[in-house]
Amino acid sequence: MFRTHTCGELRIDNNNQTVTLSGWVAKRRDFGALTFIDLRDRYGITQLSFNEEYNQQLLAESRKLGREFVIQVNGMVTERSSKNAKIPTGDIEIVVESLTILNSSLTPPFTIEEETDGGDELRMQYRYLDLRRDNVRANLMLRHAVAKHVRGYLDQKEFIEVETPVLIKSTPEGARDFVVPSRMNQGEFYALPQSPQTFKQLLMISGFDRYYQIVKCFRDEDLRADRQPEFTQIDCEMSFVEQEDILNLFEGMVQYLFKQVKGIDIGTLPRITYEEAMHNYGNDKPDIRFDMQFNYLTELVKGKGFPILDTAECVLAITANGCANYTRKQLDELTEWVKRPQIGAKGMVYVLCNADGTFKSSVDKFYSQEDLKQWAEKCHAQAGDLILLLSGTTKDAQKQMSELRLEMGSRMGLRKKDEFKALWVVDFPLLEFDDENNRWHAMHHPFTSPKPADIPLLDTNPGAIKANAYDMVINGVEVGGGSIRIFNKELQAKMFKTLGFTDEEARYQFGFLMNAFEYGAPPHGGIAFGFDRLCSLFGGADSIRDFIAFPKNNQGRDVMIDAPSVIDAKQLKELGINSQI
Ligand code: AMO
Repeated sequence: MFRTHTCGELRIDNNNQTVTLSGWVAKRRDFGALTFIDLRDRYGITQLSFNEEYNQQLLAESRKLGREFVIQVNGMVTERSSKNAKIPTGDIEIVVESLTILNSSLTPPFTIEEETDGGDELRMQYRYLDLRRDNVRANLMLRHAVAKHVRGYLDQKEFIEVETPVLIKSTPEGARDFVVPSRMNQGEFYALPQSPQTFKQLLMISGFDRYYQIVKCFRDEDLRADRQPEFTQIDCEMSFVEQEDILNLFEGMVQYLFKQVKGIDIGTLPRITYEEAMHNYGNDKPDIRFDMQFNYLTELVKGKGFPILDTAECVLAITANGCANYTRKQLDELTEWVKRPQIGAKGMVYVLCNADGTFKSSVDKFYSQEDLKQWAEKCHAQAGDLILLLSGTTKDAQKQMSELRLEMGSRMGLRKKDEFKALWVVDFPLLEFDDENNRWHAMHHPFTSPKPADIPLLDTNPGAIKANAYDMVINGVEVGGGSIRIFNKELQAKMFKTLGFTDEEARYQFGFLMNAFEYGAPPHGGIAFGFDRLCSLFGGADSIRDFIAFPKNNQGRDVMIDAPSVIDAKQLKELGINSQI
């Protein structure tokens, strides 16, 4: 038997018991006639003690043990003279009676401790060692717990988990496909699913009624902290439902997850329209942990001789409460921050609302105290507050102000990791115009249903159509999105046409779905949650990488297995791929 107990299990109640433990050597501390070893496994750490008086030979052997050696020990649980309140096993130690080295280890390239000395790339390269660290393992255990509770909730709501294929035909979710060449059908390619969208709709036509799947999706897009080329969705679809049914059921799921995983009651989720989100926050995934909503000063600032604000299509302001004590240096630095290419503002105007009721602004030359007072009133600013203005086209000003709002929220400590504010954003536009390619794009995907009253606008004003589409946003992160689907063949054909597909292209790409619509498709709709994003939110981290066992780096590489990699000429030939291309 390798072990009678785990390294996280023994307590003072086990005093004087003889036990066997197996694990990794986390740390060795030698003191003359005494050596302590911290033995680690997934469950915790237990201190082993080797002592000259008790067994000189064992003490000598213990001093040959290097970090990460795998050992088995047998010994007596003994009360410690100096206890360690920081770990659950801290009251006891094992006085070792026999030692077996199960395996040796090279010295690891970084210390396997919570605060490691290993940089990102090195830890990715040795991810199997990184995963021995408590905090990284805890993230994956959290992931497991979230998955378990998702399954529990959905099972209780009569959802059936169905696996859909991975080698498929392209699904249009807006990113590039990863493709896989077919050896048996040379010159032809499978695509990896960007989501199981079409399959889950087909399952509704099959009568499955309530489907879910915790499923890998693949998207070849630029990577960021919250994006991986392969990621996991909690993908769901339901029949005979309206938007309201879906919002209620999945609001329930997220409330349940917060309760089970974090012990938090997140309450009822507010709902705001896409238009309100853009107007008030310049962003369709607003962080509502703090207020700081936009104020529109476009008309108020005109006519005082300051050309930039006079000519701007849109002048926006936010109020940073209690920031009137910002120094000139801080304000200059903030101005430089908004002028960085990533943000792209041309400049920033500020107004300090002094404690004595006067104002000091960067545009005092053009605006009187009375003017600035009006601005402050419009911005609900009090003495002690700071008002920040950006201007430009409505689109640019909203986008830039959204970034500045988030930055100020961070600087002011208003984006706390342990505070959670979730909301629904509803009534998304069905389409967005792609200026570059001069055509309409589906904002969600081409299967999303327009709001019934807006259907006639498909012929006259497609840009004005609202969709039965919704996103769930938590702390400024889009954690989920879905829609009510088109289930009528004619409407789906019209949608493809609006998106610029010829009949032939639509038939080639989606003929199977159009055909299925001929055989009694029920009204249906669904949603998919970004599972990795949900886990990283629960874990209070910014990057989803920490919650994925074997993630890719920002270049889409797995540096541990060194993928992607070239394949040999023989393999290419079998696939009918010319290695010269
Ligand atoms: P959507 O494209 O909005 O919808 O994706 C659903 C959710 O998946 C997460 N997500 C990602 N997470 C990590 N890395 C990525 N690259 C990535 N891309 C998306 C987001 C997002 O909200 N089929 C539809 C759903 C539906 O209509 O039912 C879909 O895939 O959290």
